[in-house]
Amino acid sequence: MTFSGWILALCLVALEGERHAAHAEEGASSERNCSSVPPYLPPTAVNTTLRLLQLRAAMKPHNISAYIIPGTDAHLSEYIAPYDARLAWMSGFSGSAGTAVVTQDKAVLWTDSRYWVQAERQMDCNWELERDGNITNWLIKETKEGDEVGFDPFLFSVDTFAAYKTKLAPAKRVLTSIPDNLVDEIWSERPPLPPDSLTRLPDEFIGVTWQNKVDQIRGQMMDNPYKPTALLLSALDETAWLFNLRGNDIPFNPFFYSYTLLTFDKIWLFVHTERVTEELKVYLNSSCDTLHCVQLLNYDSVREHLMKYLEEPGVRVWVGTEYTNQALYELITPEGKLLQSTYSPVLTTKAVKVDTEQRILREAHVRKHTTYPSKETARQLRVDEMYLVDSGGQYLDGTTDITRTVHWGKPTALQKDAFTRVLKGNIEISRTIFPAGTKGVNIEMLGRRALWEVGLNYGHGTGHGVGNYFGVHEWPVGFQSNNIPFQEGMFTSIEPGYYKENDFGIRIEDIALARSIKTEHGNNYLTFETVSLVPYDRKLINTTILSLEQLVWLDSYYRVIREKVGPELKSQGLTEVYDWMIENTQPFLTDGASAVVASMSPLLLGEQAI
Ligand SMILES: *[C@@H]1O[C@H](CO)[C@@H](O)[C@H](O)[C@H]1NC(C)=O
Ligand SMILES: *[C@@H]1O[C@H](CO)[C@@H](O)[C@H](O)[C@H]1NC(C)=O
Ligand SMILES: *[C@@H]1O[C@H](CO)[C@@H](O)[C@H](O)[C@H]1NC(C)=O
Ligand SMILES: *[C@@H]1O[C@H](CO)[C@@H](O)[C@H](O)[C@H]1NC(C)=O
Ligand SMILES: *[C@@H]1O[C@H](CO)[C@@H](O)[C@H](O)[C@H]1NC(C)=O
Ligand SMILES: *[C@@H]1O[C@H](CO)[C@@H](O)[C@H](O)[C@H]1NC(C)=O
Repeated sequence: MTFSGWILALCLVALEGERHAAHAEEGASSERNCSSVPPYLPPTAVNTTLRLLQLRAAMKPHNISAYIIPGTDAHLSEYIAPYDARLAWMSGFSGSAGTAVVTQDKAVLWTDSRYWVQAERQMDCNWELERDGNITNWLIKETKEGDEVGFDPFLFSVDTFAAYKTKLAPAKRVLTSIPDNLVDEIWSERPPLPPDSLTRLPDEFIGVTWQNKVDQIRGQMMDNPYKPTALLLSALDETAWLFNLRGNDIPFNPFFYSYTLLTFDKIWLFVHTERVTEELKVYLNSSCDTLHCVQLLNYDSVREHLMKYLEEPGVRVWVGTEYTNQALYELITPEGKLLQSTYSPVLTTKAVKVDTEQRILREAHVRKHTTYPSKETARQLRVDEMYLVDSGGQYLDGTTDITRTVHWGKPTALQKDAFTRVLKGNIEISRTIFPAGTKGVNIEMLGRRALWEVGLNYGHGTGHGVGNYFGVHEWPVGFQSNNIPFQEGMFTSIEPGYYKENDFGIRIEDIALARSIKTEHGNNYLTFETVSLVPYDRKLINTTILSLEQLVWLDSYYRVIREKVGPELKSQGLTEVYDWMIENTQPFLTDGASAVVASMSPLLLGEQAI
């Protein structure tokens, strides 16, 4: 078994009473009080006095009045390595979303409401927490006309930079790019980079060789009417995908720090070269005679190397702006040397899984059902609560992400009603049939409709792409307006939910594959095949709210679970789990009822792709 050794994020989140439980603990969970004398600081608060003193000193030679500290890395990664946790080190706040600004007399953190309690527990009284308002307004208020606001361009996306500039320039505040990070200058005991060597995917998990991928991407460069001469890859999953390589720099994500600059006859790979083993060098240079020669360059030399490339006459560099940082983007001048699209051709190509990838990702979901999560972070659970378990794993063949909500006591009428409506939403998206090329945003409301009917809703997106031993949240697939249209071979999560503040939370998340389906009159239509194979909690389903078509869908899904997961459980001797699975996948409809529906409406039932 290729289980890579960890469970991503087993969160037993019982939304009800989380706060309550937290307050019951002593000290560790209390919030700071900066208005008491002396200020009250919980043991979880970090003393930032010295750090701020040093940072302010480091700001002085740059003549900046304020310094912006984002919480991301140079690849605009969703999850970052401890090596890049500058915001956490400076402020004490370790939440995954936030931005700080430091001036000579203030230090302020912005984060969203999910993290306010955590920030009040982790920050000392040197820091202010801004709950409302936005950074640019604050900067204008706290600085004078002509003042410079410093930032590390490696930590700014092209769009973020543009958003700041749009607001600050008219107010005559100058954004000053400082490529050498000021926090790094003073960061004592900075966590080192993991020393691990890079690895290549085993042959059986490679859908397309890296040489063929390079050819394919060069083909897209060739076909592009703006005639780029090079493609710059900045997102970590872009380079990892292109070369079928994996690493271990980012917790829970098998990525390594890297950039790639690809031309029609050269391939420059920027990595920490000491991590490339002799074996990998051979792997990367086995077809050197056919325009597939990989030149390894040091990760830190990317800016310098790109600058040199741009000095050549007639060059034009293609970048996907979504993941390119400002430090590289700002080098590509004049405009004639730049070709930009939101996503690089690697991201859009990668979004469509080839046959091998589809097959192994499916198989990973069958196996995954049989690996049971171990409890790591848990508080005492009560039988009268609702539990939302969002769990996932990285396997060499695939990445899984699934959420089930269960109740171990007697659910209330509202809990049942809401759960069933969330389930209806999940089923409606899963069984919908749509023309290839439809944008997710145009089917997203199917996931909300049953909730809207009774005045309920949820405040998050409805799904995201997922990779093969890759990112759990793989852009640009999904149901938001900035996601790309669905094509056959894309995997997405489908995850409607409902959350009642301080009471309970519901989410039902499955991974599904977009695949073609025959329709009576048209060609090139798609539907979803659900590849996550775990039954839903029957106790929470009110079948009278489900339509006949939804019940038929459920029954056919449950049949697939039995057929695919059953033999796997048996072969592993997991009798108890097998019995549980059988009991929980009993059909909802009698055979007669399904037959009637099937004859009434063959199209709606699809030949369900599952
Ligand atoms: C903080 O301390 C002040 C002064 O002792 C007190 O009045 C206030 O209630 C405290 N705030 C909180 C949130 O405990
Ligand atoms: C924080 O550290 C500074 C400098 O190291 C020290 O002077 C100060 O007393 C500390 N503050 C608290 C609240 O412990
Ligand atoms: C900040 O607020 C201003 C005015 O209220 C608004 O125009 C601007 O779009 C906001 N900026 C961001 C980044 O939200
Ligand atoms: C430093 O910044 C101030 C504005 O805060 C500006 O007036 C001055 O010209 C700057 N000095 C240098 C050397 O750039
Ligand atoms: C591949 O071979 C070329 C030409 O000999 C060499 O310059 C390059 O460094 C080699 N690359 C790797 C990854 O070993
Ligand atoms: C199921 O839903 C129907 C229709 O909303 C409702 O009348 C009934 O009380 C619900 N049953 C249960 C057991 O909650």
